[in-house]
Amino acid sequence: MVPRPESLSGLQFYKALFMAGNSDGEIRNPTEVHMSQMVLPCHANHRGQLSTGQLLKWIDTAACLSAERHAGCPCVTASMDDIYFEHTISVGQVVNLKTKVNRAFNSSMEVGIQVNSEDLCSGKEWKVCEAFATFVAQVQDKGKVKLHPLTPVTEEEKLEHSIAAERRRMRLVHTDIIKDLLVNCTLQDERSREGNMNGEVLAQTTRVESVELVLPPHANHQGNTFGGQIMAWMVNVATIAASRLCHTHPTLKVIEMFHFRGPSQVGDRLILKAIVNNTFKDSMEVGVCAEAFCHEMNVPRRHINSAFMTFMVLDEKNHPCVLPRIKPDEGDGQRRYREALARRKIRLDRKYVTSCKQSEVPLSVPWDPSNQIYLSYNNVSALKMLVSRADWVLASEINTVHLYTLEEDGYLSFRVEMRVSIDAREAFELLSDLSRRNQWDSTYQECQLLQQVNADDAIYHVISTMRSSQKRLQDFIILASRRQPCDVGDPYVVAFRSVTLPAYPPCKEYTRGETLCAGFCVWPEKENMTKISYYNQFTPGIVEYITTNIAGLSSDFYISFQSCERFLFENTRGKTSV
Ligand code: COA
Ligand code: ADP
Repeated sequence: MVPRPESLSGLQFYKALFMAGNSDGEIRNPTEVHMSQMVLPCHANHRGQLSTGQLLKWIDTAACLSAERHAGCPCVTASMDDIYFEHTISVGQVVNLKTKVNRAFNSSMEVGIQVNSEDLCSGKEWKVCEAFATFVAQVQDKGKVKLHPLTPVTEEEKLEHSIAAERRRMRLVHTDIIKDLLVNCTLQDERSREGNMNGEVLAQTTRVESVELVLPPHANHQGNTFGGQIMAWMVNVATIAASRLCHTHPTLKVIEMFHFRGPSQVGDRLILKAIVNNTFKDSMEVGVCAEAFCHEMNVPRRHINSAFMTFMVLDEKNHPCVLPRIKPDEGDGQRRYREALARRKIRLDRKYVTSCKQSEVPLSVPWDPSNQIYLSYNNVSALKMLVSRADWVLASEINTVHLYTLEEDGYLSFRVEMRVSIDAREAFELLSDLSRRNQWDSTYQECQLLQQVNADDAIYHVISTMRSSQKRLQDFIILASRRQPCDVGDPYVVAFRSVTLPAYPPCKEYTRGETLCAGFCVWPEKENMTKISYYNQFTPGIVEYITTNIAGLSSDFYISFQSCERFLFENTRGKTSV
């Protein structure tokens, strides 16, 4: 390891290493932390598997080191996104953690965490989980810290940097969305008709309450309790509650996104309470609540965290076992029982929509309140993925309009780019209003706004001038998601994808078409100079036609873009100097 010269701060030193490559000649992100831990019996449960609590402590520690490398000051865990555990890890195996800061916002940062396990005997390595944590930089008595921005270098870092803004958006509205959905969601209890054939357990019998005293080894150098330690204590009580239901050792599969509401310090007593809220056929939801209080009896308890975890019981062949039904207590118990049903629906929608590639989420996913935020995330992140690709090939150039193509797995994408002397914000406002697109795009015959979902998302019904193979005009139901730049250097983004709206099924008059991923990126350059890129990804069905017709396509695009430029000028005239 290269010794750090005294003249350089930790961060400057890592930056210098990054620019120059480290002692192995490897170029590495300065915030990247690698941690490898041998799983010993003291880290394991009775089945000889690494306890999830211990894994969470390692995750939090490694992620905190990444955050502090970037911030150059102490950082606390603010939140952790959903974690899906794909594999268990056995004693004797090695856990490899890799963490890095994806993006710095104001005082907070997103840290990406990858966890793999390695079998030293076979040399095999496999993915256990990935996670995204938010850390907040804090310097005592110094008010809010302003972090310096992080500049992504590699293609992968650029992508993570760009999508981190989208994940942050989802995170910050998560609590309110869940609250709204829990109030409005009425779901049929799938197991209500099942009777008692798999037995019934009183929820009351799974209740756990436990106390922990926060000691110096549980805290950082500022005396704040480590987030990972609190998570480990929460997993501990949740596992006891789950075991009381199934009378065997359950396996933790999912921890839902949660937020550390307030700090806790050395000397605090933490009260941890858990109970099984509901059981589904082969999984159960356990809720845990953590509160802190100090030794002074009359100071009220502080709510630190609430988390919801999904456990399964696996047999020797790793197949899930059917769980007994739960009989909730009156009052809060019944409310939590119903809310667990709603959370399960939201969790399944979220996992499905956010973890799939754009092209893997069927366009027939109906737009509904429980998935709309995730479909909107999927819409924007898919476009950002296309934008961040480095392997675009210049296919044609007419005057200042460039056409690029990208071919992958049978999908053909193209990007058309031009520079216009118009204010970027105005161009963004005009281009994101799909109902005006027929003013410049000859393939749009008519476009009607069906639903203004919120300030950033709207659903349109588009009637195209193009005909399907059945000679009918095509129509589309399109979700348009707009995003302002999150920071200097970001583009304005308008993403389009098809969705289905139950109230607007296909009709006889038109053939319902589908748009996988399309949209605009509008990059402010110099004053009143804007780069506009339009992206579109085609389904395999029409790739052949397009690849043999690039020349025709580029002249069509050239004409459309000229007309788009005129539309932008005419509608901003007087406000911009042309
Ligand atoms: N998820 C992710 N980030 C969140 C968040 C959440 N649920 N809630 C707030 N934040 C971010 C904000 O976006 C903001 O980021 P920015 O400065 O980059 O824009 C940052 O946290 C600070 O937000 P602010 O509104 O100034 O403060 P707050 O009153 O919301 O407090 C914490 C946020 C995290 C500082 C506060 O809740 C806290 O101290 N929590 C305990 C942290 C801790 O001690 N963890 C260890 C285990 S106890
Ligand atoms: P809510 O009650 O709205 O679910 P809380 O934050 O109060 O939210 O609690 C989170 C979860 O913690 C609950 O869903 C429940 O599973 C568990 N919990 C809360 N209070 C208790 C308690 N007194 N005993 C056992 N478990 C509890």
